[in-house]
Amino acid sequence: VKKIAVLTSGGDSQGMNAAVRAVVRSAIYHGLEVYGVQRGYYGLINEDIRPMDLRSVGDIIQRGGTILQTARCKEFLTPEGQQLGADNLRKHGIDGLVVIGGEGSYQGANKLSKLGIRTMGLPGTIDNDIPFTDVTIGFDTAVSIVVDAINKLRDTMSSHERSSVVEVMGRHCGDIALYAGLASGAETILVPEVPFDLDEVAKRMEANFQVGKRHSIIVIAEGAGNAQSVADRIKESNGIDARVTVLGHIQRGGTPTHNDRILASRLGDFAVRQLISGDSGKACGVIKGELVTTDIDKVVHSKKEINRELYELALRLSQ
Ligand code: F6P
Repeated sequence: VKKIAVLTSGGDSQGMNAAVRAVVRSAIYHGLEVYGVQRGYYGLINEDIRPMDLRSVGDIIQRGGTILQTARCKEFLTPEGQQLGADNLRKHGIDGLVVIGGEGSYQGANKLSKLGIRTMGLPGTIDNDIPFTDVTIGFDTAVSIVVDAINKLRDTMSSHERSSVVEVMGRHCGDIALYAGLASGAETILVPEVPFDLDEVAKRMEANFQVGKRHSIIVIAEGAGNAQSVADRIKESNGIDARVTVLGHIQRGGTPTHNDRILASRLGDFAVRQLISGDSGKACGVIKGELVTTDIDKVVHSKKEINRELYELALRLSQ
């Protein structure tokens, strides 16, 4: 490979900039030319491709968002859109591509790989829903934001002896709810991977109330339901008036933690080295601290499992 490109796609996540910086600087270090594609696959289709140099990624390691911007591109879901994307890369003489994004972005990378483009995927999503990596870029920061929010909620809930239902992101994966819930001592954690009974939750709250635990935090992943309807159902069941907080896109912004910056830096550099070694069609990840690659086709056809050990620990400790 002589010329590579990098793009960010799907929902942004904290640490994407650190990953872009690592790809650009590692590529230049290894004597490659490197290009940035603006607005993900949308920019690929519309040839929004520009050369990157060492200075173009200066002063970004600490910033949330992505300087390359991102988009959810419907046209790229079609075979015609994918072909156009591959053709545009070839037209610019680009023979390798690093895609930083979540599950949908990986699907696109897989298609490009099948059209003969040397592709590497980097897991960039706050959801932590990518299999074959222990963690995704942005997850650590998002969990810290949620923990900080729950700490604040707990102060006021405790003063008023109230209960709170906090809705966090995670469409198919409850990891943000699980990790943030465990770290903040939430009384109940509701995730899409584990069935739950709201009447049971309400009964437990009532029993706790009787023995003097007069405030509680319920964390629900958006994929497991809606915070307002959980609060309504609890009120119906036990009469406790729970307050609702939906954290929304706050979880996707702000400065990345050092964990996310280091993860992104390692993965960005690794992806470039893998392309140089002739590898292609792979998703890069970290398992037990080690950098690994997995066939991207396998990754997009697998589902991440919830960490049962942590889930059960949270249950045991939340009495
Ligand atoms: O996939 C990341 C994510 O933040 C999900 O947790 C959330 O459901 C979704 O993106 C929100 O997408 P959008 O920003 O397009 O509304």
